Amino acid sequence: MVKRGAGVGKQTLTRGLESATLPCMNDLAGKHIVLGLTGGIACYKAAELCRALVKAGAQVQVVMTEAAAQFITPVTMQALSGRPVYTSQWDGREANNMAHINLSREADAILIAPASADFMAKLLHGRADELLSLMCLARPLASVPLLLAPAMNREMWSHPATQRNVAQLQTDGAHVLDVGQGEQACGETGDGRMLEASEILEDLLAFFTPKVLSGQQVMITAGPTYEAIDPVRGITNLSSGKMGFALARAAQQAGARVTLVAGPVNLPTPRGVLRMDVRSAIQMHAAVQAHVGQAQVFIAAAAVADWRPLTQADQKIKKDGSGDTPALSFVENPDILWTVAQSERAQKGHLFCVGFAAESHDLLAHATAKRVRKGVPLLVGNIGPSTFGQDDNTLLLVDAQGAWELPRDSKTKLAQTLIAEIAKRQQAPGRVS
Ligand code: CTP
Repeated sequence: MVKRGAGVGKQTLTRGLESATLPCMNDLAGKHIVLGLTGGIACYKAAELCRALVKAGAQVQVVMTEAAAQFITPVTMQALSGRPVYTSQWDGREANNMAHINLSREADAILIAPASADFMAKLLHGRADELLSLMCLARPLASVPLLLAPAMNREMWSHPATQRNVAQLQTDGAHVLDVGQGEQACGETGDGRMLEASEILEDLLAFFTPKVLSGQQVMITAGPTYEAIDPVRGITNLSSGKMGFALARAAQQAGARVTLVAGPVNLPTPRGVLRMDVRSAIQMHAAVQAHVGQAQVFIAAAAVADWRPLTQADQKIKKDGSGDTPALSFVENPDILWTVAQSERAQKGHLFCVGFAAESHDLLAHATAKRVRKGVPLLVGNIGPSTFGQDDNTLLLVDAQGAWELPRDSKTKLAQTLIAEIAKRQQAPGRVS
């Protein structure tokens, strides 16, 4: 028995809490980060964080409280940061003996990870009886942001005193990161764990990203679709989803609320992004139709199968020994981008639509024609075989004014540039879609 165009696979919805393992080499190049450690078992994660910051290109200066040094040694942190660690305001290495001033003046940001309940209480009152709190108090408020990654037992975290302190620290200008949820070192389970190093890195990168899409909702399709022939076979393509996922991450870091409709790919969900997993073009179309109504930007980065088998066998199609091949008929899939671009909101300029074109040749001609055919203000062309599965790419941007190339770069960097280009166009006064 066969069903026509039936989708397989359940649609699932997940919020990206983990960090994408997309490359972020040099994302923090030129940034000087003062990494402060206070007393808590989460100090073990600070070692990994220090390494991640250095790998991302940052210069890291570690400052530790006496309590932090009970959990991890300054030797470890020195080896990982490649710089001597500061632990005392009486450190004689500074010519003027003012480590608290010198260290904070050099910083692009001070990141306290872990930030204990006690340390946050201390900051709140402006106390400064050791180097780290002294340095936080002495930092130039207007130019040196302070980020705190809290870490504590769940009861300590939920205590009204801690919650009051967090609220007041935010009012005082500190940027307090979320806490993780789960099993704690004490054996209890709940909120209060420090975020993982990769999550803190993502939050720091987002912190430094200009919020060009602040308050906007962005929907992105990514990856291939899979069109089933029978329960074990299907038609798909070589799209890895990397570009779409990089765009989701860049849009989220630029301040947007992002919904990512992903075909079958093996990629982690970018932090903070809402992901809907689908399999077939029909499912992708349904997911987009259900949620695009709230979006201001729609980016169709998916490599959607143009056709699906007319019928899908319930059971595996077997060879019958005759040497005959099965006769497959196809039916065209809905054009998701075209449908969205024809909607009233897109036509009235309330929804900015961006298409992709994966071509094998004559990129400029095909991309220019495709932009008009799809009815979108911006189309991004690339050569399919040289992008599928790769970490870098070359893009050709085509709009009503003409075309120009974004030279070969990592998909992470290209996505950041593309999001900035989209924001510029989407917010241009008098724009017509
Ligand atoms: N697209 C879509 N739904 C489809 C087919 C394509 O939303 N059924 C979107 C893609 O996500 C991409 C753009 O349309 O943004 C162009 O896709 P592409 O596969 O390059 O072009 P097609 O429209 O399929 O045309 P052709 O295969 O003839 O080049």
